Amino acid sequence: MDFSLTEEQKLIQQAARDFAQNELLPGVIDRDEKQEFPKQEVQKMAELGFLGMMVDPKYGGSGLDTLSYVLVMEELSKVDASSSVIVSVNNSLVCWGLENFGTEEQKEKYLTRLATGEIIGAFCLSEPEAGSDATSQKTTAIDKGDHYVLNGTKNWITNGGTAGVYLVIAQTDKEKKHRGINALIVEKGTPGFEIGPKENKLGIRGSDTHSLIFNDVKVPKENRIGDDGFGFKFAMKTLSGGRIGIAAQALGIAAGAYELALKYSKERKAFGTEISNHQAIAFKLADMHTSIQAARLLVYQAAKDKDNGSNYDVSGAMAKLYASKVAMETAIEAVQIHGGNGFVKDYHVERLMRDAKITQIYEGTSEIQKIVISRSILK
Ligand code: CAA
Repeated sequence: MDFSLTEEQKLIQQAARDFAQNELLPGVIDRDEKQEFPKQEVQKMAELGFLGMMVDPKYGGSGLDTLSYVLVMEELSKVDASSSVIVSVNNSLVCWGLENFGTEEQKEKYLTRLATGEIIGAFCLSEPEAGSDATSQKTTAIDKGDHYVLNGTKNWITNGGTAGVYLVIAQTDKEKKHRGINALIVEKGTPGFEIGPKENKLGIRGSDTHSLIFNDVKVPKENRIGDDGFGFKFAMKTLSGGRIGIAAQALGIAAGAYELALKYSKERKAFGTEISNHQAIAFKLADMHTSIQAARLLVYQAAKDKDNGSNYDVSGAMAKLYASKVAMETAIEAVQIHGGNGFVKDYHVERLMRDAKITQIYEGTSEIQKIVISRSILK
């Protein structure tokens, strides 16, 4: 296992670090408070090529490997997880799904615009009664010959209000259960497609999360991804890679909280010395540093598995399970090290603590990751 970075990967990592410090950090508290989508920042990330990182340059992407993408996710997430989830969904769920399973026409029509960031995408699987139990789709896509008619509601959709293109998972043939599910490309503005209210969230408040309502929405058959009935497999295969992106986000949140706590502990004095000189604080820092490095190795391993063409369903699940736990625990300890200041918005760690929680929930809860991992051990 060699995780030494190439010169190109180091440059990409530095570019993301600089961007996060110079462009994301200044407005991050304000955007969090106002639940404001980082519109200009997303535009700048598009210019840096962060929205279509792994996409072939012939479709407007940067043609990079998964490890480079993970490095960018980590750096962005140290500062602003609301911005990094936009990057993650667009890259891993929307662009990757279209590039790997879309037709040439779909790629030309949609992928190029998504990879360059002209538009962003949303991935629509979850429903009011189908979150973890993703095969229980109630949204229907009824086959009408040359088109489908889509009806139903999707919930908690990242980029829900701002996306231009939505990949919607829906049940066509109930009898066939998960083998009767399809994935359809739906454009914003299609008649009958309404964007529901924006959610008022605990964390990642800069990302816009909406419910979506489909009332007799006509979707041309050429907008189906893959063969009839491929929709659930499409969602699972896409989410396997998405989980690596969210694992990298969790790693970044943990590393960001740790770096702030380390700096603060060397500046803040109590009982006549910097608090880092007290073993109670030094041991917390030692634990944080160790678990972050362990999470990093799991995340990089999953990225390497994907780049090497190995199976990454389980390594991605393990990376997400562990990194999200480390993110939550590290952010809580970072608040503790900051004491009263940790409870104040200006010091950033309270926001990182709120942002950390979602990494244990979206793209498969920690319990779902344990299902994936335990099934692979026990089969
Ligand atoms: N790749 C390919 N196919 C897969 C797969 C994978 N990784 N995982 C499962 N499948 C296939 C199975 O082979 C099976 O197909 P066949 O019967 O044809 O062989 C089919 O999918 C059903 O699999 P299971 O029998 O294992 O299904 P299950 O009902 O037991 O559920 C589950 C499996 C892993 C729990 C799945 O439901 C799951 O992942 N749930 C969580 C959903 C999730 O992650 N939601 C996140 C929402 S998206 C989001 O958060 C994005 C965002 O905005 C940030």
